[in-house]
Amino acid sequence: MTDQEAAARAKASYARCSVAPEFFDAFYRRFFTLCPAARPMFAKTDFDRQHRLLRHAFGLLLNFPAQRDGEPTILSRVADRHSRRDLAIDPALYPLFIDSLIDTVKQYDHEFTPAVEGAWRTAVATGVEYMQSKY
Ligand code: HEM
Repeated sequence: MTDQEAAARAKASYARCSVAPEFFDAFYRRFFTLCPAARPMFAKTDFDRQHRLLRHAFGLLLNFPAQRDGEPTILSRVADRHSRRDLAIDPALYPLFIDSLIDTVKQYDHEFTPAVEGAWRTAVATGVEYMQSKY
């Protein structure tokens, strides 16, 4: 599977998942189970707003190009918000965030297969590495 095929498969899967309004709620429930340390960081969060922002940001993640040509990128603002200058999100928490996303996709995508999981993992990898590198 090429990077482009992976991105296309993951986007199609995301389209199937994100029609369910409760997808984002389910994602956060899973994330707080796998990563209890994250829950207090969202103590004051307005989740209606957060779900909207995350819907958009997952799209950015899946559209993050494998090859980049300098800053700014489509994830610059989101990366800056998570960096030590603002939210200070430990880069070690990202794998749990992605595992929670995959578990939730597994639950909501009725066409889920191991190949779909592989496509997601490939498609988000460069964006996640970018976010971690901007810490
Ligand atoms: C690639 C992974 C991630 C993406 C795409 C992402 C995306 C976002 C977006 C779009 C926002 C809203 C930004 C804004 O308010 O303008 C946000 C906020 C936030 N994110 Fe992430 N995030 C990621 C990973 C993480 C991880 C691993 C944590 C760990 C706990 C985390 C914790 C937070 C917190 C605490 C907020 C602030 C919520 C608030 O405003 O109350 N994020 N994230």
